[in-house]
Amino acid sequence: MAQTSKKLVLGITGGIAAYKSAELVRLLVKSNIDVQVVMTESATKFITPITMQALSGKPVFVGMWDGGVGNGMPHIELSRDADAILIAPASAEFIAKLVHGRADDLLSTLCLARDCPLLVAPAMNKQMWENPATQRNIAQLKKDGVSILGPDTGDQACGEVGLGRMLEAEDLLVLVNAHFTPKLLAGKRVLITAGGTLEMIDPVRAITNLSSGKMGYAIAQAASDMGAEVTLVSGATSLAAPKSVNNIRATSSDAMYQAVMSNIAKQDIFIGVAAVADYSPTEQSTQKIKKSTASHSLELTLNKDILAEVANLPNAPFCVGFAAESENLLEYAEAKRQAKKLPLIVANLVAEAMGSDENSVTLLDKNGSHPLPRAPKIEIARQLLQYVANML
Ligand code: C5P
Repeated sequence: MAQTSKKLVLGITGGIAAYKSAELVRLLVKSNIDVQVVMTESATKFITPITMQALSGKPVFVGMWDGGVGNGMPHIELSRDADAILIAPASAEFIAKLVHGRADDLLSTLCLARDCPLLVAPAMNKQMWENPATQRNIAQLKKDGVSILGPDTGDQACGEVGLGRMLEAEDLLVLVNAHFTPKLLAGKRVLITAGGTLEMIDPVRAITNLSSGKMGYAIAQAASDMGAEVTLVSGATSLAAPKSVNNIRATSSDAMYQAVMSNIAKQDIFIGVAAVADYSPTEQSTQKIKKSTASHSLELTLNKDILAEVANLPNAPFCVGFAAESENLLEYAEAKRQAKKLPLIVANLVAEAMGSDENSVTLLDKNGSHPLPRAPKIEIARQLLQYVANML
């Protein structure tokens, strides 16, 4: 079920943002995308082909007459082989050339000869971006079916501040991955809880747990890539939420319960990934508790089980639970699935999952168990959601 490797031509044009393309290539390759770099002559003034070759693991093409590809027809060969072309950075000049279908170097020629989607990440000074000529060109490219990624706003290399910066490499990676992901959840609304919870004892002390939020955030990103409208209820985590989701912060189990219940109507899928505290202090002191006795006991009250309550709603969405166990994994997880009346539960060992960037899980449904071998959490998230899409 793992995604097969996609082929991307990364076109680099002349702009100072070309330095970000080195990091982008590294991230794309790490994300299992096969990258062929093609540079314009101007781009080589900002970053060398040797750098890009070392990072992509492949020779870089610059000139129209460079040998070695497709019987002297690299523009045809390279574009036929690609699943998409991304131009990052795309200079104002290159964008203007694309609009007019000009073909006076290898990169512009292979864009014209392409039979695959074209993605363009503009990078230029804010005056150049705001110029009506550039805005007309961008509008025309959109009409022609080209995807425009960014630009971002902020500090510019020229010292000015405004719109025109190229998106960061991490943001471009997310958009490229989303582009390559089949839209299996298009039109679906998905609500996800993620992270641990923080149950305050007094203004400075709390009960919490070691959940990092990485698995829930990966599922939120993957669901959004698959076309879903995602609401993420984030507990105690320091992670930055994916930009494409509606993120609601709710650190205590009670706040998480309220956030879920006020957003559950009209959801198609609910995935409870959060490590919600089972108990909270019965009373929360408004002032810092002073040490006065040799021992101190804390009375705890059982929290509401958010997942079980959602699964028992009259028009319950499709509910997926997580079971993090330290022993008897499958037995405990299946018992939870049945007790909470869930169609699907994801079983993982605490030692494998918590805090790690990778995970190995077993999906349990009424038909039995389905193991997903150890992989990065984003990959586990994709496979889980493909399974959910099939069940739906
Ligand atoms: O019973 P246990 O806490 O092990 O169940 C784990 C599953 O239930 C997870 O999906 C978790 O998000 C959810 N849960 C919840 N509310 C609670 C406790 C657990 O939604 N109070």
